Amino acid sequence: QKKKTVLDFQKMKADGEKIAVLTSYDFPMTGLIDGAGIDMILVGDSLGVVVAGHDNTLPVTMEDMIYHTKAVMRARPNAFVVADMPFLSYQTDLTSARLNAGLLVKDGGAAAVKIEGGVNAAAAIAAITEMDIPVMGHIGLTPQSLHRMGGYKVQGKGDAQAEKLLEDARAVERAGAFAVVLEGIPMGLAARITEELTIPTIGIGAGPHCDGQVLVIHDILGLCSKYSPKFVKRYAELAPIIAEACANYIADVKGGTFPEERHCFK
Ligand code: KIV
Ligand code: NA
Repeated sequence: QKKKTVLDFQKMKADGEKIAVLTSYDFPMTGLIDGAGIDMILVGDSLGVVVAGHDNTLPVTMEDMIYHTKAVMRARPNAFVVADMPFLSYQTDLTSARLNAGLLVKDGGAAAVKIEGGVNAAAAIAAITEMDIPVMGHIGLTPQSLHRMGGYKVQGKGDAQAEKLLEDARAVERAGAFAVVLEGIPMGLAARITEELTIPTIGIGAGPHCDGQVLVIHDILGLCSKYSPKFVKRYAELAPIIAEACANYIADVKGGTFPEERHCFK
């Protein structure tokens, strides 16, 4: 498999080839996901929830993002790696936005960064794009806007809200983003945005008409809670498999059946 670059995604949209994206946060999982042939890997700030156990993504720091991006890059993936810019790393001023984007590339090793927001994030997207770091936008249900949204709710319902989201999508493209995540929006609106934009749209809870799809790896593997959001498809149920393996180990240790002769040095 050839190494993916920012150029591949524009071509995939033009050719109608769907873009498959998954999140990854560490070395071994990245090897597995990349070996399976994923196009793009997102080191998402969702790591704050699925890896670090926070209630939401707001506490995630630049240090967290750099640490995990480095671990992902050590797997030398052929996939194009995008690192999320965490809350407060790009909202306060453009100098911070530039510096923090630069650190995710320079120290983390990512090829691109992702920023949440539409019209309100356009200046940051343009500032970072200007220093030749590709930026992926992210509009609709933006988890860092949790307190404004009053929860993780579908966005862009109704004509006025839909028009506002279209404006966000246009602003992100105009600011120079190479792709945009559409999260938690009605499928009809996602189709309209996908048709209107020249850059690829990557959907999550945004229906089948997007140019690509992204999901959180812990969600598709059944590693987290028993219940998944409507937009998640679980491709495996690993939680009970891991729990059973651990229970068997504990029973072996307690019962004295591990270690066996073959596990011992003579
Ligand atoms: O943090 C994340 O994993 C994300 C994707 C789910 C889009 O932003
Ligand atoms: Na994110």
